[in-house]
Amino acid sequence: MRILVTGGAGYVGSACLRYLLGHGEDAVAYDNLSAGHRAAVPADRLIVGDIRDQSGLVSALRDTGAQAVMHFAALAYVGESVIHPQRYYENNVAGSLSVLQAMRSTGVSRLVFSSTCATYGITGHDLISESLPQEPVNPYGRTKLAVEWMIRDCAAAYGFGYTLLRYFNAAGAAADGQHGEDHDPEPHLLPLVLQCALGQKETLQVYGNDYDTPDGTCIRDYIHVDDLASAHWATLQRIDSGTAQVYNIGTGTGYSVLEVIAVAERVTGRSIEHKIAPRRPGDPARLVADPQKLIAALGWQPTCSKIETIVANAWQWHQTHPHGYAS
Ligand SMILES: NC(=O)c1ccc[n+]([C@@H]2O[C@H](COP(=O)([O-])OP(=O)(O)OC[C@H]3O[C@@H](n4cnc5c(N)ncnc54)[C@H](O)[C@@H]3O)[C@@H](O)[C@H]2O)c1
Repeated sequence: MRILVTGGAGYVGSACLRYLLGHGEDAVAYDNLSAGHRAAVPADRLIVGDIRDQSGLVSALRDTGAQAVMHFAALAYVGESVIHPQRYYENNVAGSLSVLQAMRSTGVSRLVFSSTCATYGITGHDLISESLPQEPVNPYGRTKLAVEWMIRDCAAAYGFGYTLLRYFNAAGAAADGQHGEDHDPEPHLLPLVLQCALGQKETLQVYGNDYDTPDGTCIRDYIHVDDLASAHWATLQRIDSGTAQVYNIGTGTGYSVLEVIAVAERVTGRSIEHKIAPRRPGDPARLVADPQKLIAALGWQPTCSKIETIVANAWQWHQTHPHGYAS
């Protein structure tokens, strides 16, 4: 299948692009490089463009002969979304509307969308299933929820098939250590932990140790970026113009911040200085997926999301690329 991958030079998008190419699909990234990296994508597989540029997007869909779109392009920092909500609505919501318009005008009718567990908000449930109410607690989550509804409405009216994939915490790096997470600023726990292990950061801030969890720190469900990629591929193979599906992608197992630090200390053999800081507003105590729907429907299984594997792969990437792709 020919697939246009918006945001395909970013962390998750580039991992999916590589996975698709490795499985014989014909995939091309479309990315404005605002947060993505040229070096994350084979040179002949990148179109530099913005999803809000309708004519650029239409040309990309026509030129590549795309039959499906995987839509990763978004701004994805919770904290930043609180400070700059307009930027988030403009990029994520207006940008996604532009993607849908371009698909409609070029007759591309299959869409896989990167949604997020941030659309659920604070559920109070140990495991989060797709049927729980979605009450996001920050502008980032709300932009993603708005796009979910936009896709449902456009699909019903214009005959698109779609799959909404709500990821939990993407983590890890390619097993060969050549590709990994490189954000500036880096908002995610594991890269920050490993920057401490490398001596690039002195101390890790742990935001809150008074949550209602066994050790008081927040619990998250870490899914290896290559398992995310395999879930996208499994989804793509089932999608047709009538598909209307929503799946969580996670493992069903959560780790607290302190547990992640302890695993990282074991894997790296280095001690990681950390200090307790106040809670951040809008951080749910626990976000762990119920992934059974995806497993049952597609036979998908995470194969590299053991926390030790995630940390070991990420450690290899950080050691060999201490300055990310600029290394
Ligand atoms: N990383 C996670 O843990 C996680 C969890 C849940 C959902 N997601 C979603 O997955 C997707 C990818 O996340 P990521 O961590 O890889 O982020 P990322 O920032 O690494 O990748 C996003 C990519 O989109 C590109 N982009 C942004 N706006 C664009 C625009 N207007 N036009 C063209 N390209 C644009 C950026 O340059 C970047 O390459 C996002 O939609 C995010 O909301 C990520």
